[in-house]
Amino acid sequence: MNQPALSQFFAQLISSQDRFCSLIDNFNQVKLLVIGDLTLDEFVTGEVERISREAPVLILRHENTRQIPGGGANAVYNLAKLGAQVKAAGFVGDDIQGAALKSIFQAANIDITGILTDHHRPTVTKSRISGHARQSVTQQIVRIDRKSDQLPSQDLQLQLADYILSQIDQVEAIVCSDYGDGVFTQPVIQAALTHSSVIVDTQNDLPRYQKATLFTPNLPEAEQAVGYSINNEKTLQQAGEDLLDKTNAQQILITRGDDGMSGFYYDDNNQIQSWHIPAFNRTDVFDVTGAGDTVVAALTLGLCVGASFWEAAVLGNLAASIVVRQFGTATTTNGELKQALAILIEDYQNL
Ligand SMILES: Nc1ncnc2c1ncn2[C@@H]1O[C@H](COP(=O)(O)OP(=O)(O)OP(=O)(O)O)[C@@H](O)[C@H]1O
Ligand SMILES: [Mg+2]
Repeated sequence: MNQPALSQFFAQLISSQDRFCSLIDNFNQVKLLVIGDLTLDEFVTGEVERISREAPVLILRHENTRQIPGGGANAVYNLAKLGAQVKAAGFVGDDIQGAALKSIFQAANIDITGILTDHHRPTVTKSRISGHARQSVTQQIVRIDRKSDQLPSQDLQLQLADYILSQIDQVEAIVCSDYGDGVFTQPVIQAALTHSSVIVDTQNDLPRYQKATLFTPNLPEAEQAVGYSINNEKTLQQAGEDLLDKTNAQQILITRGDDGMSGFYYDDNNQIQSWHIPAFNRTDVFDVTGAGDTVVAALTLGLCVGASFWEAAVLGNLAASIVVRQFGTATTTNGELKQALAILIEDYQNL
């Protein structure tokens, strides 16, 4: 973004500060359904004790196991932490990882009625084992992924679709957080799309969700969907237009990592308009994993409380600027959002 555009952006941001705060204050009124490829992220750490005699490997003395929601479960968790009333839908296996994920959700007041147990597929779990020597930094040694390559049975797919249909009148929007792990089969997508407000974050094949309201691809996902690389303003604009065309969506938000995000939408005269938002935090970036889920969460809540597409995206960007400072997938809260907005404006004014 060039200097005049940046000044104009901040002028608009500053004049809307009170409005942003009142939008954020309304987040806890929103009722949502999130359908997601639910993942459990597991972090096991220990101190290196010695080399094993069984094999040339390290033996760690266990110190800590941390379990946090990942993949679509991170989107669910982000929405709940921002204050929304969230119903989660998807599959877990009949295993301790599934039980762990459900109990994390219950502790955050998330309705788990729509989380069905799949007796033939495990809960998608990514376990990182990390070690450290005495007084030294911790580093990852190995990651173990648990997942099935099979789709859920036809019967389970239909059960999930039925649950979704039963919730259409109960929620203001549906979020689809598709990490390609098998939740989003045709009956499930069809059921979700019966709602008038559907926000889709999918790693591939966006056109399957024809006429969803809004898509939030990151740059590589957008490139894959349009089939060419996006490396300048012209190709970015072209990609936004092509994505609107391919999906028949009303709005497309391309998240662009440290370049922020770009929105494309049809105005009242059916003309395509666009805007760009710079990344708010480029200096304290520690871990961008899951930042996209945070964007979707704050953006969706913004739209549900009456924000414009631009305002909602600013809120998403603001939320992302907070979580990229934290290790692993992370969440943020209404209070932190308001505080981050005040600091952002103050820093800009002090430049
Ligand atoms: N390196 C970075 N510096 C500053 N902000 C960043 C950086 N990376 C990401 N962000 C913020 O996070 C938002 C989403 O990031 P990104 O486009 O990487 O999403 P994503 O790839 O979908 O993430 P994930 O799939 O891991 O959830 C960006 O629009 C930006 O606001
Ligand atoms: Mg993403």
